[in-house]
Amino acid sequence: MTRATQDGLAEQYRDDRNLNARLALHQRFSVNRYGWQPWLFDQLAFPSQARILEVGCGPGDLWRRNASRIPAGWRLLLTDLSAGMAAAARRNLAEQVGVMAVGVADAQDLPFCSASFDAVIANHMLYHVPDRSRALAELARALRPGGCLVAATNGERNMAELGTLVRGFDPTIRWEQYAAGFTLQNGAAQLAPWFARVERLIYEDGLVITEAEPLVAYVLSMQGNATQRLSGDQAAAFADYVQRILARDGAIRIGKEAGMFRAWRS
Ligand SMILES: C[S@@+](CC[C@H](N)C(=O)[O-])C[C@H]1O[C@@H](n2cnc3c(N)ncnc32)[C@H](O)[C@@H]1O
Repeated sequence: MTRATQDGLAEQYRDDRNLNARLALHQRFSVNRYGWQPWLFDQLAFPSQARILEVGCGPGDLWRRNASRIPAGWRLLLTDLSAGMAAAARRNLAEQVGVMAVGVADAQDLPFCSASFDAVIANHMLYHVPDRSRALAELARALRPGGCLVAATNGERNMAELGTLVRGFDPTIRWEQYAAGFTLQNGAAQLAPWFARVERLIYEDGLVITEAEPLVAYVLSMQGNATQRLSGDQAAAFADYVQRILARDGAIRIGKEAGMFRAWRS
């Protein structure tokens, strides 16, 4: 990962604003009304008494959206590389029973003893990590034997129609998949050296978008390792372009490809 890419990523996740703009689009226009975070929580088949680490926790949405469902015997430790994200998670989960601490840590260099967790969660974050083998070795090290890693990510085709839409507006705009380094297609092979058993689960969903503003906010929130932020004039022209498509077609349909791996340490 180049210095510029790292700086772009740090800027992208300086705080939770960019991520919240993207979550807002998913919350408003997703076809599957069950919801990603409740579905992800359903798959956490951890013991009733468990020490759980989440790396790259962002603003803590997994726990915020499932607040009433967290078993009394779970002890949660949340970490993120970004101090701004950790602060947002601390704020959002201040009253949450079970959340023991929220701290700043790099998934490539975890400040925890070996075998100290029953489960580790990495939700839509492994694709951002420059040395993924090192991070996976760290996640495996932090797990006790038999412990479970939940690694959620996107597929290669996730929101591909959004890329087509943006390039239809301006073919010179740099717009690539954030998740390309760790996808539903290539993730299992990356997990295999560290975990005895790996399984993949898919969450079926898509977007039918009927308003321009949340879609424009989503696109404007993207910058960092693979995409380019639109400048002020471009942003206004892009908003007009989206409005014209909506006036013509009534809705913009975007396919999603998201899911997770569950991987067990031997
Ligand atoms: C797409 S967000 C996902 C946040 C949260 N897990 C969620 O799904 O809402 C990716 C998060 O990973 C964090 N991150 C990126 N690289 C990291 C690293 N090397 N170690 C820990 N966290 C990292 C970012 O700061 C950001 O909060």
